[in-house]
Amino acid sequence: MSASRSILLIIGGGIAAYKCLELIRRLKDRGIASRCILTKAGEAFVTPLSVSSLAGERCFTDLFSLTDEADIGHIALSRSTDLLVVAPATADLIAKMANGLANDLASTALLATDKRVLIAPAMNPRMWQHPATRRNMAQLEKDGVLVVGPNSGAMAERGESGVGRMAEPAEILAAIERALAGEAPAPQRAIGFLGRLPGGGGGAPGVLAGQHVLVTSGPTHEPIDPVRYIANRSSGKQGHAIAAAAAAAGARVTLVSGPVALPDPEGVETVHVESAREMLAAVEAALPAQIAIFAAAVADWRVAAEATEKMKKDGSDLPPLALIENPDILATIARRAAGRPELVVGFAAETENVVTYAQAKLARKGCDLIVANDVGGTGVMGGDANTVHLVTQDGVESWPTLAKGEVATRLVAHLARLAAGRRPA
Ligand code: CTP
Repeated sequence: MSASRSILLIIGGGIAAYKCLELIRRLKDRGIASRCILTKAGEAFVTPLSVSSLAGERCFTDLFSLTDEADIGHIALSRSTDLLVVAPATADLIAKMANGLANDLASTALLATDKRVLIAPAMNPRMWQHPATRRNMAQLEKDGVLVVGPNSGAMAERGESGVGRMAEPAEILAAIERALAGEAPAPQRAIGFLGRLPGGGGGAPGVLAGQHVLVTSGPTHEPIDPVRYIANRSSGKQGHAIAAAAAAAGARVTLVSGPVALPDPEGVETVHVESAREMLAAVEAALPAQIAIFAAAVADWRVAAEATEKMKKDGSDLPPLALIENPDILATIARRAAGRPELVVGFAAETENVVTYAQAKLARKGCDLIVANDVGGTGVMGGDANTVHLVTQDGVESWPTLAKGEVATRLVAHLARLAAGRRPA
């Protein structure tokens, strides 16, 4: 990890601007320095002080500040870096970039730079789908601008959802590292918005050809206030490996993923969500499917009343954090009267009585198979290996400790056989 890599981060005016604070911290952890420009609109969402405190140097805000010009100047600012990153890239900033406008520090730096530019769009889904934004995005693509996101999910505006949420800090970080390494960006699922990627990837038809497989993966984040959340240590490695294995077996695959630091598996339509409720909505929207595999570590509880503003210390008692139970996605789908997938598979992370607990879970949730992970002291969460037992009403099949990729390939082959065996001849 080199400490000499640096980016110029342009923070636009959107609710997602607060995620840039986490991005700056994560970049620092990876040895990447961030110098920041905060647009006038961005200042409505985060303060120059919080940005500069995290970045470790002053945050630039005004094109016509004489001190800025004397210190560095916008031309030098845009060139003394390895990469320009715009996050959130609002519809307005995207329009300015596509048309070469230069009427403030951010747009001037973007026009004056000789470095690559990566944008993380964030806007209301209707704005994202508007023909003007489509035209501007097509222009930026032609100009060689790299893009990460946007993701689909609920918007900050009540009742609004769709494609338009800014990519998560971990995804933006991964895109930055790819760009700094000179790699081509990952294919952009959202630019051809709402389109489905074909499964299978060509070649001989696999054992799941013609079938739709739905997989959940990763943790969920349950918001406490706009900057804090409850989470768990799930890496998403096992769920993502299963999605990739199902695609390799010829299935059309929809992966509903919580926030993870993994790239989207190739040939898989990946829907990014944060909370359990968003995950349930995305799963329901993706049905029908022949096989549904619930590998996500869904948070069992969420905060009863999410604060709309950042909670502050006021010197008195600790704030109460009342929790309520999240919907059980696996049980909800397994118990559907209509449109239930032929095969519903759950996971169970256990440290003791692995098989007995998994058998109880199988009955409680109404699924067809439980993959019981033995997580007792093996570092399974986040690790690369897994020891699993397949528990059904008919019995238990125990596998040796295997790499997660190998577990995925074997599981997909096993499920394909099971599903075929259940269908009428
Ligand atoms: N699951 C889900 N929705 C939830 C909770 C869990 O879909 N709200 C799914 C998970 O994806 C997994 C299985 O249910 O397939 C795990 O069930 P859970 O009861 O959460 O098991 P554990 O995490 O093992 O928890 P516990 O032992 O506390 O019951």
